[in-house]
Amino acid sequence: MTDNDGLNKKLFGENFHFGVSTAAYQIEGAHDADGKGPSIWDVFTTNKGKILNGDNGSIACDFYSRYPEDLRLLKQLNIPNFRFSIAWSRILPQGFGKVNQKGIDFYNRVIDTCLELGVQPWVTLYHWDLPQALEAKGGWTNREIVAHFSDFSTLCAKFFGDRIKYWMVMNEPTVFTGAGYFFGIHAPGRRGMKNFLPAVHHAALSIAEGGRALRSALPSGTEIGSTFSCSYVEPYSTKSRDERAARRVDALLNRLFIEPSLGMGYPVQELPALKKIEKYFVKGDEEKLKFDFDFVGLQNYTREIVKHSFFVPYLGAKLVAAEKRKVDVTAMKWEVYPPAIYQMIKQFDRYPGIRKIIVTENGAAFPDSVVDGEINDVRRIDYLERHLLEVLRAKNEGCKVEGYFVWTLTGNFEWAEGYGPRFGLVHVDFVTQKRTIKNSGYRFANFLDA
Ligand code: GAL
Repeated sequence: MTDNDGLNKKLFGENFHFGVSTAAYQIEGAHDADGKGPSIWDVFTTNKGKILNGDNGSIACDFYSRYPEDLRLLKQLNIPNFRFSIAWSRILPQGFGKVNQKGIDFYNRVIDTCLELGVQPWVTLYHWDLPQALEAKGGWTNREIVAHFSDFSTLCAKFFGDRIKYWMVMNEPTVFTGAGYFFGIHAPGRRGMKNFLPAVHHAALSIAEGGRALRSALPSGTEIGSTFSCSYVEPYSTKSRDERAARRVDALLNRLFIEPSLGMGYPVQELPALKKIEKYFVKGDEEKLKFDFDFVGLQNYTREIVKHSFFVPYLGAKLVAAEKRKVDVTAMKWEVYPPAIYQMIKQFDRYPGIRKIIVTENGAAFPDSVVDGEINDVRRIDYLERHLLEVLRAKNEGCKVEGYFVWTLTGNFEWAEGYGPRFGLVHVDFVTQKRTIKNSGYRFANFLDA
């Protein structure tokens, strides 16, 4: 079926973490059940024309009720680690203040079920679903959010810290600030530099504050990380203006959040458009942006080819679409380019401050079809195997990469793309909620069984 037969779990070593990643809004559904408050995604998806086919996550995979079945799938597929996120407004409907015990109970059930099955739960505190009540006060543009986020982090540590060993403060801040606060294509739909820059600064401060809140509340031996999106960036040509454009895009996509957390500040020199972020600094912020994470979650799907463009404001650069380049693409129109993950692990590994890298997301959407109850997703199998081989290449060259999580377990709500593109090792029929394990799921299970 594929020519990646050299792949063997044992080559990654005994302590390598394999798992799958998910996010609350994409799977849980039950958007207003048991006292949950609305999040920005509950509200944003009601706007006409924002989401493909007018879809929303109100039901999604109904993980809220079906979690026992889905967690049993992990067991069936030999998957030892499960990453999920906490919906902030499920446990704090207003974002702060009164706690919703039924929300706490739900996550306790999920955690306890994982542990009973012998699956290690990994928690992300924030995967983009801000309580709408906080958005009404300015959301990430309002500095008050830093204190609220810190309190939310402390609360999660208090309720779940006795059983969760691995924590991730935030998921992909570049994506939620870029798509949600600059382009307005994700919740909450704000646009422009006046929203983007304060959102970036307050999210960056919250990543470090959240880390500190967790560290002071959690027992020793707990590992605290945060996840960062990255795409391997290459210039379209050897012309120096394309090379300079590529460096600006690299600063934006790959360095914007990791560098301040490492104490290097924002990459303003490469990306002068960021200069105005200083406006949102208060005394002592340089120090506050730093946090010594136990691990960094690296999330990579593709590479980007960059060309100079006079017409694109702030960036002076544009991405050359994969389809135009006539390369192999996924259903997200992202180029299939496995060396990207190798290059990004190398790039992150060069930072002296990073202790450990876990690939917390990698995966692909392809149009899956169920034929006689079977989903023979050969392209996904090939994608995953080729990426795993690239992770192994980086590891064998001495990079500190110690984990790999597939995005994702079951098909789910793919943000602005709704239920269009299908990711995951398990197919979901969104009418009947029937789960069918794809051949990629069986293949991953065999790999993990070694
Ligand atoms: C990431 C995100 C996930 C998922 C994935 C596939 O950016 O963290 O929530 O949607 O991409 O697009």
